[in-house]
Amino acid sequence: MTSRPDLFSPVRLGAIELANRVVMAPLTRSRADKDDAVTDLTVEYYRQRASAGLIVTEGSPISRQGKGYAYTPGIFTDLQVERWRKVTDAVHAAGGRIVIQLWHVGRISHPDLQADGALPVAPSAVRPEGKAFTEAGFKDLVTPRALAASELPGILDDFRRATVNARRAGFDGVEIHGANGYLLDQFLKDKTNRRTDAYGGSVENRMRFPLEVVDAVVGAWDKDHVGIRISPVSPANDIDDSDPKAVFVPFVEALSARGLAYLHVIEGATGGPRDLGGWDPRDLRSVFKGAWMGNNSYDRDLAMEAVATGEADVVAFGRPFIANPDLVERLRRNAPLAEPDRATFYGGDAKGYTDYPTLGEASAA
Ligand SMILES: Cc1cc2nc3c(=O)[nH]c(=O)nc-3n(C[C@H](O)[C@H](O)[C@H](O)COP(=O)(O)O)c2cc1C
Repeated sequence: MTSRPDLFSPVRLGAIELANRVVMAPLTRSRADKDDAVTDLTVEYYRQRASAGLIVTEGSPISRQGKGYAYTPGIFTDLQVERWRKVTDAVHAAGGRIVIQLWHVGRISHPDLQADGALPVAPSAVRPEGKAFTEAGFKDLVTPRALAASELPGILDDFRRATVNARRAGFDGVEIHGANGYLLDQFLKDKTNRRTDAYGGSVENRMRFPLEVVDAVVGAWDKDHVGIRISPVSPANDIDDSDPKAVFVPFVEALSARGLAYLHVIEGATGGPRDLGGWDPRDLRSVFKGAWMGNNSYDRDLAMEAVATGEADVVAFGRPFIANPDLVERLRRNAPLAEPDRATFYGGDAKGYTDYPTLGEASAA
């Protein structure tokens, strides 16, 4: 008799051993200091959540050009590496595992966030609808500058350097941010990629730069320490593709061939409905031969069922981890979950960040 896997059982993703299958999804909280480095408050925040089988950190810009929000902690300076080291040490001391999400936002930025007030860069000069979060508040996003093909090797170097820095900082691996309308997603999808060179047009051409990024990151570490996040049908950050299945089946085939540690898939609209009525990216489950990390609006029942049936190997929870540092314990005991306060999601101090109690602390209070 074969037993069905359980949400609370151990699993291995590439080289990374997880004590359970509950993953903390990447959550930008915008609490870095003026050097774009994490502080001791962030060390405490991740330490509190170390019972997750795996923590995926908030998106971490690989360069100043890759930054799109105020107060996000980068992974491109020595100081940033030193500070992240305190986070990884704290999580490991508490028995947890942690990978860093490598982020280039592409067009979802603003001159206020760029060096010398430069324009954000993108595959094509297509302006996104929406606002940028700057130190001076929310500002309209602008029309980006289209990258010259000759600039792309420099961005690959930034990804390589960030990966080397992640190793130096003591992370268990890296997750390439290929989701939510940021740079890699902008290359993949035809609403944002209007190029006529080798990086645009056909699906093969649109996949070229994202796969070059994957190969650069794998080359800087190895496949067993690298995962990637995608959001094939999510409209987050004003993005769309006229035929996502035609793009993501071959893209995921190419990822599968590279033997990555895991594929992290936002199923549906990020933070919204799981079923959008069109093609369902869970179809990709049979295309990717490695571990599947499901995400988006999962609750306990859905996560237990997905793991038991093999629809997912692990499940990433985002918003529930904000208000429930001991989410794994609460799920295990089927205890009630606290609701997060949206007003403190981005920016600020300990309030709404490190002051959410565990079940034990709440009952002692
Ligand atoms: C405050 C906040 C910050 C987020 N930051 C990131 C991020 O840095 N990188 C990323 O890939 N997704 C980010 N997301 C998306 C989440 O990882 C996740 O996909 C989304 O919340 C849906 O999962 P959930 O229903 O479990 O919350 C963020 C979501 C929220 C609410």
